[in-house]
Amino acid sequence: MSNKMKVLLTGAAGFIGAHVAQALLNRGVPVVGIDNLNAYYDPGLKRARLKALCDAPGFELIELDIGVPDALASAVCAHQDVTHVVHLAAQAGVRHSMIDPYAYVHTNMQGQVAVLECARRLPKLQHVVYASSSSVYGRNRSLPFRESDPVDVPGSFYAVSKRAAELTSESYAHLFGLPQTGLRFFTVYGPWGRPDMAYYGFAHAIASGEPVTLYAGSELARDFTYIDDVVGAVLGVLDRPPEAGVARLLNVGNDSPCTVRHLIGLLARELGRDALITDVPRPGSDMLRTWAAVEDIRAISGWMPAMPFDEGIARFVAWFRAYEGL
Ligand SMILES: NC(=O)c1ccc[n+]([C@@H]2O[C@H](COP(=O)([O-])OP(=O)(O)OC[C@H]3O[C@@H](n4cnc5c(N)ncnc54)[C@H](O)[C@@H]3O)[C@@H](O)[C@H]2O)c1
Repeated sequence: MSNKMKVLLTGAAGFIGAHVAQALLNRGVPVVGIDNLNAYYDPGLKRARLKALCDAPGFELIELDIGVPDALASAVCAHQDVTHVVHLAAQAGVRHSMIDPYAYVHTNMQGQVAVLECARRLPKLQHVVYASSSSVYGRNRSLPFRESDPVDVPGSFYAVSKRAAELTSESYAHLFGLPQTGLRFFTVYGPWGRPDMAYYGFAHAIASGEPVTLYAGSELARDFTYIDDVVGAVLGVLDRPPEAGVARLLNVGNDSPCTVRHLIGLLARELGRDALITDVPRPGSDMLRTWAAVEDIRAISGWMPAMPFDEGIARFVAWFRAYEGL
């Protein structure tokens, strides 16, 4: 990475954000982190992720809500030397968007505009890399999902908010020349992961002898992607911006889907417990299968996912046991 880089990173206390921040700091790149540490899931986990970052030279945290444009603009104003923006803050979680859709409008839609409004005024800005999601493929059935596929049939309001963010970026590239890359992440898992995600909840249930709820029997499958591979994808594209005026979209997935039933078996094996499975019908918000075609990102940065699924789950469980004190 260039030694003249300075990164503004939103969602720095989040699962992916904290790992990306650490990787940048390890490479000597200064990071200005932004996060509001909200209580969508345990803020204690967010603070624990931040602990290691805050001890590192070159890291600064600004606690604010990206959905409040004036607050964001005045904070960013003090960092005119930022060269790259990595925008990962979001109201994540698919099912919660049925309960509180306005949180998705506020952070994922208004927040995207607020971040881009700041980015376009930064005099040294070279590239905005932001998080999108495999959810935008919605009810598409043709696998693997390709960036060129139509994305007009969202299955959740979360997907709508992520697609709206992509379209916002497309317009800012066109209108203001901002080079941008939207990364469509596919089910990211690993140490320091999100407690609201299924694999984390399954680990809890198995460890405490409670039943695990499985949707759609053996049909449900995900392209589970290990956190270190995701960090590699972000860093790999960060200093390879598209030309001015272009907002490109790239899948970041494992290109090797696994059934959720298989995931439950691996977790049970690593935890040394039996999994009690309750089969129930799939809710409409959940996709049946995901699978990323990754030729496009490979062509740009040479990136390929590397972590075998059983090894990634073993690493997650080792961290989970230590963090949860099991
Ligand atoms: N983890 C996955 O499997 C996955 C898959 C697809 C897409 N994504 C996307 O990747 C990004 C990072 O996801 P993650 O798994 O690290 O989620 P996360 O919830 O752990 O991290 C998001 C962070 O953003 C912060 N945040 C939320 N709203 C904010 C606001 N209004 N202002 C400031 N900060 C705010 C949260 O406090 C949190 O620390 C998100 O954009 C998410 O939608 C994640």
